[in-house]
Parts: sequence; structure tokens; C-alpha cells
Amino acid sequence: MSKSKRRYVCQACGSVSHRWQGQCPDCAEWNSLAEERPATVFSEKHDLSGGGRAIAFTALDRPGEALARRPTGLAEFDRALGGGLVPGSAVLMGGDPGIGKSTLLLQAAAEVARAGGEAVYVSGEEAAGQVALRAARLGLGDAPVKLAAATSVRDILTTLNGMKPPALLVVDSIQTMHSDQIEGAPGTVSQVRGCAFELIRYAKENGVALVLVGHVTKDGTIAGPRVLEHMVDVVMSFEGERSHQYRILRALKNRFGAVDEIGVFAMAGQGLEEVPNPSTLFLSDSDEPGPGSAVFPALEGTRPVLVEIQALIVRLQSGATPRRAVVGWDSGRLAMLLAVLEARCGLNFSSCEVYLNVAGGYRLSDPAADLAVAAALVSALSDKPLPARSVWFGELALSGDVRPVAHGGLRLKEAAKLGFRKAFGPEDIRDGPDAMRHETIARVANLVDRIVTSA
Ligand SMILES: Nc1ncnc2c1ncn2[C@@H]1O[C@H](COP(=O)(O)OP(=O)(O)OP(=O)(O)O)[C@@H](O)[C@H]1O
Ligand SMILES: [Mg+2]
Repeated sequence: MSKSKRRYVCQACGSVSHRWQGQCPDCAEWNSLAEERPATVFSEKHDLSGGGRAIAFTALDRPGEALARRPTGLAEFDRALGGGLVPGSAVLMGGDPGIGKSTLLLQAAAEVARAGGEAVYVSGEEAAGQVALRAARLGLGDAPVKLAAATSVRDILTTLNGMKPPALLVVDSIQTMHSDQIEGAPGTVSQVRGCAFELIRYAKENGVALVLVGHVTKDGTIAGPRVLEHMVDVVMSFEGERSHQYRILRALKNRFGAVDEIGVFAMAGQGLEEVPNPSTLFLSDSDEPGPGSAVFPALEGTRPVLVEIQALIVRLQSGATPRRAVVGWDSGRLAMLLAVLEARCGLNFSSCEVYLNVAGGYRLSDPAADLAVAAALVSALSDKPLPARSVWFGELALSGDVRPVAHGGLRLKEAAKLGFRKAFGPEDIRDGPDAMRHETIARVANLVDRIVTSA
């Protein structure tokens, strides 16, 4: 039998050596090495049930330091974050090319720096002069932001370790960062993961709020490894149609707050302007809506937003397969609604092309939009406009029932504020405003009667 090697494990740091020493060579602790019997058979070698250090348990009623959020000064950004940036946290910001990620983060960095916090902006995509040019256009030239163009994570961390940790560190973007410890070009899975890991570790150890910009793939998910989204505390997505002025900042994951709040911005020559009251943005101006247009009081988190839903129906003479196109809503849900309208109301869309559009480049995710979409479709099919100054909301079941939705009162209050006088929904809203008349639509068949028979 071969002589088994002795193993001495430091009880303080866990390092292993093959001879006994009075002082651990790794952590310099004295008398901490203890002999461990070498494992022989497989199960013993892989046995983790002993030989480790004891971990300490604490009680649930002993929270860590309370989250001291730091507002950035961009109120809409703070709102989407759930109240501001948390020191020692990492935020990943994704969004389509050219949507305005760099603009938003430069503005946030400038606000933090102007308020007296240290803000560092590292750009891996643009030269420092280019970022400075943008700052001048946005009127931020005088903000004391520390700006650098760099892509080597080693250079960045060496520099940061030699100075006072900043309040905010922006890295634009993680796909351009490079670690010399890892094989491969910037942007590869291992590089992205490795660089993010090192930057996040620096942020956590030094109480720095880190914001990483992430590229998105064609289908809108953040490029690189999915694990990147698990590594960070907050994942945000900056959305909007590039042809429209409005941009919406949404949290997809937030370890420190709710994910249903949105921030609304308008892109202008001077940068992103905050839109504190977005309800009017997504409505058309006309008082007399044409057929196929319905207004839906959507709710994003705690904030109501009124959006206009437009439907267009074109009858086809030939037997060609009709098109169904949707902008700003789920196409699967439209197919379901058309099926419910055909099955429960006897309407026939089979020879019609159906186009659905949510005005203003808004993306609806609220399930309460069903009734408004159905109203727009029925109105377009029957070529009858919906009652003027009315809003529609409710979730549709496959049975054709209109189901109640959350926060009816809040939706109606916002609609009343903007001059709407009538609401169509699933049930009586008790906490609605007085100025609003409510009409109950309990089944989708009632909806068709109401629209088609009303003269
Ligand atoms: N002079 C200007 N006036 C108005 N808007 C401008 C002007 N210059 C740039 N923009 C807007 O800023 C957008 C670019 O913003 P920004 O560079 O912040 O985007 P980004 O998301 O960082 O893009 P990328 O993914 O390429 O880094 C442009 O698409 C444009 O809408
Ligand atoms: Mg950019």
C-alpha cells in the first residue's frame, strides 16, 4: 500500500499544506494548522460533511444596515429604481442601440456629482472627447463627473483602488470590458461574466453604486450570459420606439423594491426630460374619436397612464390569408380575443385583416386592456365610434365574462382628471370619482350590443 500523504488544513483560512508549520503560510495565523486524514476511497474523498469551519447563525430580527438609498436627482430614474440607488449594489441597464442609455446615465452621473457625490463614468464605447461633447450638448459640461475612456478592468480597478470610492460608478458597457486573466475577446461569455464579477465585487466591498450598461440581442434580451442578470441586484430596461420621443424605464428585477414602477422620459435635444404626468402623452388630441379607437386607463405600478388603442379592420374580397399585426400588445392575446369575439358574439373576422396599435409607442402589459381592445375591435368592425370621452377596462375570460381588475378607483380618478366622463368596466367601482359615470359590462356579448345598437 502506498504511503498516504499527510494533509494539514489551516482552521482559519482553509488553506492546505503537506507538512506541519507553526504559522499558516497563507493567512499568517499561528498554530492554526491541524492534520486531516487523507481520503482514500471515492466517497471519502468527496465527503464534505466534516473538516470545514463552523458558520455563525444569526436571528431574523437582526437586519443588516438599513438601506440608505441615494436619490440620483433624476426623479423618474429614482422612481423606477424604487427610490434611488442603493450603495454597494449593482444595476444592469439594457436597451436597444441608440435608445439613450448613455445619455440617461451621463445625466444621472452629473446630477449625483452636482449634489456633492463623487461620480465616475467609464466609457468603453466612446472616446472621452465624444462623451464630453455629449455633456456639452446636454448642458452638463460644468458637472464634476470623473470621466474616462477605458476597457481594461485591471486598469479601472487599479485606479479606483487608489482613490476614495465614488458614490456612483457607471461602466458603459460591460460588453466592451476586458480582463487579462481570461481568454477571449471582449463580449464573449467568459469575459462578460468575469469582468462583471470583478466590478461587482469592488462595488460591494466599497459601498459603491455600480451601473453596468448591457447590450441587448435582437429579441430584446440582454446579450451575454443569462447569469449576468442573476449576478446583479437590479435589471432595468430602457424602452421606446426610436421614432417616438418617449422612453420608458422599467425594472425587470429589483432586489430592493417592486418591479412594477416605470419612469417616463421624453428625448429632446437637451437630453432626456422627465415626464412627471405621462397620462396625456399616449392620447390623441381629438375630442370625437373615430371608429376603432378606445381609451384604456392602464396602471403601471401605482401610476395610472391613459393610452389610446387603435384597431383597423380591412375586409378581404379574395380568399387570401388575412394578416394580423399588433404593435405594443401581445399578438397571442389578440388571437385569443378574436376567438372569444367569434365564439361568444358570433362576429366573423375570418376574412378580415386586423391591425392593432397602441398609440405613442407604448407597450401594454396590463391584462385589464382586454375590454378596451375588444371595444376597439368591435367598433372598427361595425364602423361605429365609441361614446365620446369614455374609457374601457376589464379582463376577458374565455367564457366571454368580463372579470374585475385591480385598482378600478385609481384608474377612474386619473381618467376623470383628464376630462373623461364615462367608464365601461366589469363591476361597480365604489371608490370612483363622482364626475365619472360607470356602466357595467358583465359579458362580452353586452359589449357588442352596447356598441352596435347605440345610435
Ligand atoms: N442633437 C441631438 N438632438 C436630439 N437628440 C439627439 C441628439 N443627438 C443624439 N440624440 C439622441 O440620442 C440618442 C443616442 O443616445 P445614446 O448615445 O445615449 O444611446 P445609447 O443607448 O447609449 O446608444 P448605444 O447603444 O449606441 O450606446 C439618439 O438616438 C438620438 O435620439
Ligand atoms: Mg451608449
